[in-house]
Amino acid sequence: MIITVTLNAAIDKSLAVPNFRLGRRHRTVEQRTMAGGKGVNIARTLKALGQPVIATGFAGGATGTHIVEQLTEESILNDFVRIREESRTNTSVLDPTTGAQTEINERGPSVTAREVELFRDKLLYLARGAAIVVFAGSLPRGVEPDLYASLVHDLERSDVTSVVDTDGEPMRHAVRAEPDLVSPNVLEAEELVGHEFATDEERTLAMSEIGELGPREVIMTLPDGALAQVLVDGQRRLKRASIEPREPIAKRGSGDAFLAGYLAARYEGRPPDQCVRFGVACGAESTGRFGAGLIDAREARRLMGDVDLVDVEQTAEVS
Ligand SMILES: Nc1ncnc2c1ncn2[C@@H]1O[C@H](COP(=O)(O)OP(=O)(O)OP(=O)(O)O)[C@@H](O)[C@H]1O
Ligand SMILES: [Mg+2]
Repeated sequence: MIITVTLNAAIDKSLAVPNFRLGRRHRTVEQRTMAGGKGVNIARTLKALGQPVIATGFAGGATGTHIVEQLTEESILNDFVRIREESRTNTSVLDPTTGAQTEINERGPSVTAREVELFRDKLLYLARGAAIVVFAGSLPRGVEPDLYASLVHDLERSDVTSVVDTDGEPMRHAVRAEPDLVSPNVLEAEELVGHEFATDEERTLAMSEIGELGPREVIMTLPDGALAQVLVDGQRRLKRASIEPREPIAKRGSGDAFLAGYLAARYEGRPPDQCVRFGVACGAESTGRFGAGLIDAREARRLMGDVDLVDVEQTAEVS
């Protein structure tokens, strides 16, 4: 079983509005409402890929009920802690004439210390039957920024593979808790090491820098693939995967699809190269769909053949 954790789950409302302009009144030509938040998106993709998954996290108020109902309707197993405050709704406006996407994310609920402890208990219980736990997305208000770090520590004693995909302060804490894998995008990786990357060499170097902060494996997703520092027979190896970028219909959530694909392959016990390839294929496939986490599993498998994978010489010694 794979557990996805979404502490700031949401209802994602996607609106297609041609010729969208600020300050004007518009009508949507297409709209879709889905349960969202990064962990939920990952759960949706894992389900589409045929992997056993349970989505957990916090859900509150009428929006929280809606999130749980939508997941249940999609046959995605879920077990959320109910909280007092209302879960958020995130709205994204896609202009099909320009491809521009505008997002407005609500601030979201504040979570109490007691609710956090209820969640901790639930997670440790669920993790007893799990091989992988993925923490993805932002933290809700009211919790300590080291919450992911402390949950990763809680899982340390079990055999569970811990994975973190978040940004900012929570990510800085999380890497130090030595999770099995972190998967920032370029921006999140720059934030983590504290400087921007101008060249391929700087990106390569950053992979070692992040690795030295604590995680066992690091994957940096790139708009055209990924840099992956993975363990092969206990040794750290750096791989560069690339795929011809496509004209995206909706880019949002491609990082989540990447991670779901990578973890699905890993759950099946595939070798690292194949896991990275499949992740990139899933990320690419998902950009062709309107709605985060949606994917055509067969098409993603076919796309694996289009992914180039090379070993990269590490420029810095890794301890
Ligand atoms: N236009 C594209 N064509 C093909 N593949 C793409 C495209 N955009 C993204 N991808 C793939 O999707 C994966 C994730 O991309 P990216 O780093 O942009 O994710 P992200 O910023 O974390 O996205 P999000 O947080 O919205 O899910 C990458 O492996 C990349 O190869
Ligand atoms: Mg991402």
